[in-house]
Amino acid sequence: MLVLGIETSCDETAAALVENGRQVLSDVVSTQSDIHQRWGGVVPELASRNHLVQILPVVDEALRRAGRRLTDLDLIAATSGPGLLGALLVGAQVGKALSAALELPFIGVNHLEGHLLAIRLAPQAPDTPFVALIVSGGHTILYDVAEPGSYRCIGMTRDDAAGEAFDKVAKIIGLPYPGGEPIDRLAKNGDPAAIRFPRALSAPGVFDVSFSGLKTAVLQHVRARGVPSGQALADLCASFQEAVADSLTKKLIAAARKLGRQRILICGGVAANSRLRALAEERARYRDLSLFIPPRHLCTDNGAMIAVAGYEAHQRGAASVSRLGVDAGWQL
Ligand code: KG4
Ligand code: ZN
Repeated sequence: MLVLGIETSCDETAAALVENGRQVLSDVVSTQSDIHQRWGGVVPELASRNHLVQILPVVDEALRRAGRRLTDLDLIAATSGPGLLGALLVGAQVGKALSAALELPFIGVNHLEGHLLAIRLAPQAPDTPFVALIVSGGHTILYDVAEPGSYRCIGMTRDDAAGEAFDKVAKIIGLPYPGGEPIDRLAKNGDPAAIRFPRALSAPGVFDVSFSGLKTAVLQHVRARGVPSGQALADLCASFQEAVADSLTKKLIAAARKLGRQRILICGGVAANSRLRALAEERARYRDLSLFIPPRHLCTDNGAMIAVAGYEAHQRGAASVSRLGVDAGWQL
């Protein structure tokens, strides 16, 4: 079964062709980050306008790279939420128009389920049950996944998402948007113990996290000493990143132990972070848990994960849902 997956929930216009929910034939991602960079974050109206410009060339390119034609497709899946309303509409309408013209089923995919299922494209994916942490620019949520397709939220951020914290801290210290990757890069030469930033909600049994206090602590540090440069900048990045990775991995592992789960998954854009990946691995090994994290390019937004989620929904028997509207606040 050949699936076209379309993703336009935020500032990436993406399309991918995936065969049988496992084999990626093409995966095209056109990022708008240079457009939003000067504003220090995503401007929704600019995002929708640029999706409109990019979506058809991106779908064409996905077909070209896979060496397939529209008539080879069996199913079309597009992100229908959560995300920016205008941005979602572009991808979902193109997906539905294609499905009507080609007389193919259409599945409206939940973006978060896409992140969770991206691991199916890696050589090793966890069997259920497992505990999953989604860490992206818009979400930071812990789920207990007892069986395929069943997601029970067991904790979430009470304020900023982890990726949002990276992006806001990057702005404070003069790094470009999106801030996760440049902070990750600078932190490699920094000392993670240089500044002891706070870890919120650290009481045992609490699976929520909070990053707004950490962001404020960075802001106060910069107000008191000015924006650092050189080694001091690397130290600040490493110390901030350590606080995020420390909080997230502690919560994830504590939740898995409390629920008696042996397998843990981390996904979403922030799962591309080197320190989060390394610390999770270290702590999972110590607790004898099996850790699963998609390869970096499948952590950040892409069309392949949407194709997989569409395929899985189709296998579960989700009917053709071409009348489905988009839902900016769609909860999993
Ligand atoms: O999943 P994603 O591509 O989009 C959303 O669904 O939000 O996540 C984007 C977020 C951004 O906040 C970006 O700064 C962060 O993921 N990110 C990273 C890294 N790469 C991307 N954060 C930390 N370290 C990274 N290497
Ligand atoms: Zn995402």
